[in-house]
Order: sequence, then C-alpha cells, then structure tokens
Amino acid sequence: LPITLACVVVSFLVCGIPFGLIIGKLSGNGDIRNAGSGNIGTTNALRVAGPKVAAATLLFDVLKGVLGVCVSRIVIAHVAFEGNVAMLAPGAPADWVLALVALTCLCGHVFSPYLHFHGGKGIAVGVGVLFGWYWPLALIHLGIFIVLVAITKFVSVGSIATAALVPVTVSIAFPYSSIPCKLLMAVMGVIVVWAHRGNIKKLLAGKESKLSFTKRVSK
Ligand code: G3P
Repeated sequence: LPITLACVVVSFLVCGIPFGLIIGKLSGNGDIRNAGSGNIGTTNALRVAGPKVAAATLLFDVLKGVLGVCVSRIVIAHVAFEGNVAMLAPGAPADWVLALVALTCLCGHVFSPYLHFHGGKGIAVGVGVLFGWYWPLALIHLGIFIVLVAITKFVSVGSIATAALVPVTVSIAFPYSSIPCKLLMAVMGVIVVWAHRGNIKKLLAGKESKLSFTKRVSK
C-alpha cells in the first residue's frame, strides 16, 4: 500500500504540470488561458498559439499520462509483486491499483496543484493513461474521437463522447475486471465530461468554436 500511495502522489504531481501553459509562455505566446476557451490544452494551444505549440502540448500531455501509468506499473510490481506486472493487469487480483494511478494522473491534470487546482480537460492525458493501461483500448478511443471530430469539426464533441464511452469499453474489454477497477475507470470518464461542462453549454447554445488549423484567435 505505501508504494501505491507514493505512486499516486508522484503521478498527481507530475501530471499536474501544465505543459500547454509552459510551452505557450516559452514560445513567446504568453498565457494561453487569456484567449480562446481559456483552457490549457492542445485545442486551445492550437487556437491561440498555432500548430507547433499545440503539437508540443499534445506530446507532453500524452507522455505524462503514459509515463505515470507505465512507471507506476513497474515500480509497484517490483516492490509488491516480485516484478510480476501481470498482477496489475485488468482482471487480475490487484487491477484496481493501476486504475487508481490512472485516475490520479487525470486528476493531476484536471485539478492541477500548480494552478490552484484549476487545470485542463483531461483528453490528452486521458489518452496517455489509456495507452499506458491497455494500449488497444486507447486506439479504439482515439479512432472514435478522430471520426467524431472529422464529422462534427468540434473537438469537444469527440472528447465528450469518447470520455463517456470509457465505462462501456472497459466493461466490454474486461468483463472480469474488479468492480473497483471498473468504477475507477468510469470516474475518469465522468470527470472528463464534467470538465467539458462549459463546452456542453456552448454546444447547446450553438456557440462552440469549430476546429481550425489556420484561424488564430487574437488575444
Ligand atoms: O480536450 C479539450 C477539447 O475537448 C476542448 O477544448 O479549448 O475547445 O475547450 P476547448
């Protein structure tokens, strides 16, 4: 248990790093929270600072999620299960442990300790933790996301739908996973949908902005 707790705390602190904000500032674009949707994620980085900043933000936000889960898996398996990572796989006796780490990674980003617990919306880091947890699942979600964004041109529609589907895909892919594991993964989906509540309002009001690689939002 102490090692799980340590991984949870470290994952939260690492995934709390707001890369969109840092890269935006380092690239001379200022605080990306001051324009567009005000979010620190890839979509707003694209809107406010352009494709290069957006690509770097996406890369680092995904990577922190992948790393959080993968490093925790190795460390916890090493300390608690003589290196047997299979003990932490979905459906294995301790499957809830990595699900908890995954949820913590997401919470670190959405409730960033460096931004007074106001962070991003959790899509990039969420894809990252899914990749680390069970990569085929991440590919399925990525596929659904891309199709929906391509059809609707709203990134938030892809984000909300893929997040809402997490409990469904986890239950289909791992019917024998423990209830705590399923619940923890479902909570991830709920948090991401909740983080998009502003987008949902805008979508319903017809005021959500569409994805554009060329238009820049002025500050
Ligand atoms: O993942 C974030 C995206 O779904 C919406 O971002 O900046 O349009 O609120 P944004």
